[in-house]
Amino acid sequence: MTEWVEGKVLQNRRWTDELHSLQIEADIEPYKAGQYTRLALDIDGTRIARPYSFVNPPGTTYHEFFFNSVPGGPLSNQLLELEIGDTIWLAPKAAGFLTLDEVPDGRELWLLATGTAIGPFLSILKTADPWQRFDKVVLAYAVREAKDLCYADRMDALAKKHAEHFVWLPFVSREKVKGAMPGRITTALEDGSLEQRTGVNLRPSSSQVMICGNPEMVKDSMEILKSRGLQKNLRHTPGHITVERYW
Ligand SMILES: Cc1cc2nc3c(=O)[nH]c(=O)nc-3n(C[C@H](O)[C@H](O)[C@H](O)COP(=O)(O)OP(=O)(O)OC[C@H]3O[C@@H](n4cnc5c(N)ncnc54)[C@H](O)[C@@H]3O)c2cc1C
Ligand SMILES: NC(=O)c1ccc[n+]([C@@H]2O[C@H](COP(=O)([O-])OP(=O)(O)OC[C@H]3O[C@@H](n4cnc5c(N)ncnc54)[C@H](OP(=O)(O)O)[C@@H]3O)[C@@H](O)[C@H]2O)c1
Repeated sequence: MTEWVEGKVLQNRRWTDELHSLQIEADIEPYKAGQYTRLALDIDGTRIARPYSFVNPPGTTYHEFFFNSVPGGPLSNQLLELEIGDTIWLAPKAAGFLTLDEVPDGRELWLLATGTAIGPFLSILKTADPWQRFDKVVLAYAVREAKDLCYADRMDALAKKHAEHFVWLPFVSREKVKGAMPGRITTALEDGSLEQRTGVNLRPSSSQVMICGNPEMVKDSMEILKSRGLQKNLRHTPGHITVERYW
């Protein structure tokens, strides 16, 4: 199999100085919502590759990736600079298990994301699966400042379309913002305010939780959920918590 497929940049959307979305045209293999691929650029004669989650659902004519510039990071700071028509390399085959086919059935589906890790959930929410398999879908999306809250219009549109089924709750941790929860997802999980605010109960008998992003948030959320009786979802031992760490 070819190791890399050449892609062309169709769009580089700048949300803030640090946050961008790339749309890329590339002939890669089909993937599942929630998966990631590797993007690569040739930098000073070396091909530097990193994993990035698909934002768009399978079957789209382009591929979209949402990322931030990490201080000193070799690839992310070069991705920011890409222009329409530039070449970018993609791994031909997607990977990853943060997909709904790995998640057992339930009544409530909880999606917890920090920062750019909203990407895989945007992809999943654009498919029919969550709406067919769960009565309620709750998305908690945490960022530092209001300006970092990207794709909010997509979430609003989903909330309109799936009014009875979908609750999305932004968290803004470093400034006060009307309509957003203050602080961190982990605090709201622990003190019950996440359930109070969404009006949805989190329980081992019927809830499934997918978590993605900052590894400390993933770890701490899992500990809190385990103390509530939820278990990590493993292929040989189905549970309630399915995770992906971004670093
Ligand atoms: C499965 C998977 C999927 C991923 N999907 C995405 C994605 O869709 N969007 C995205 O922005 N990143 C994603 N990442 C992270 C991404 O692969 C890169 O690590 C990141 O873009 C930084 O690349 P870099 O080469 O500039 O720095 P790196 O050398 O990769 O990272 C330097 C340091 O930056 C920190 N870091 C890495 N990624 C992030 C991040 N996203 N936010 C904050 N700090 C970070 C870590 O401390 C890391 O050690 C994913 C990672 C994994 C493992
Ligand atoms: N304005 C900026 O300067 C800016 C903006 C975006 C990104 N960046 C750069 O991008 C990188 C990533 O930043 P990011 O904001 O995308 O990701 P992040 O640091 O993971 O923060 C995203 C959200 O996750 C929360 N969080 C962090 N650790 C947590 C934990 N252990 N438990 C629960 N919640 C936790 C943060 O809350 P807290 O605020 O409480 O940490 C914030 O609400 C950084 O290197 C940063 O320099 C900078």
